[in-house]
Amino acid sequence: MARLKLAVLISGRGSNLQSLIDACADPEFPAEIVSVISNVPDVQGLERAAMADISAAVIDHRNFDSREAFEATLNAALDDSGADLVCLAGFMRLLTAEFVNRWRDRLINIHPSLLPDYKGLHVHERVIAAGEAFSGCTVHYVRPDMDSGPIITQAKVPVEPGDTADTLAARVLAQEHIIYPEAVRQIAEA
Ligand code: GAR
Repeated sequence: MARLKLAVLISGRGSNLQSLIDACADPEFPAEIVSVISNVPDVQGLERAAMADISAAVIDHRNFDSREAFEATLNAALDDSGADLVCLAGFMRLLTAEFVNRWRDRLINIHPSLLPDYKGLHVHERVIAAGEAFSGCTVHYVRPDMDSGPIITQAKVPVEPGDTADTLAARVLAQEHIIYPEAVRQIAEA
């Protein structure tokens, strides 16, 4: 059976990209990465793509006058790549409703909280400040409202006494690296 073609959008470190690269390295995994696109130049995720011999591009949003112009270029690159599914992996740019609707049910995101709780930025700081006993991560289909949309899979982790945002982030990230490939597999096999 043909493998699901993934485009992965990043803005930085790319450790979730790496988890997808590693999963796709298994010929039995039902997906492959056809393109990596970063909106930020010179990030670690681009090095990861190069190491894995995956075609990668920078589309720097700062070079565009509007979100729409940026997204038109992004859409053209995604169309050219032949991607079936677009995976946001630490892509820190808000997308317009037009873009999101164009890719409806073909666009997924990973977020470091148990959505619908703790949408947005600085999640781990807020989870700790609120005294939560648990946090986690979520892979979901993207809808126009930020960090919303049907949930594909989640993992829960405990918040330990003495946790800082960094220690909690690391515990959550380890689970992100497990559930993102799982979510892709689930979609590919559906
Ligand atoms: C990850 O923790 C991801 O869940 C988060 O950014 C980090 C990116 O790390 N995404 C968001 O907060 C999106 N709202 P990575 O570049 O190493 O994958």
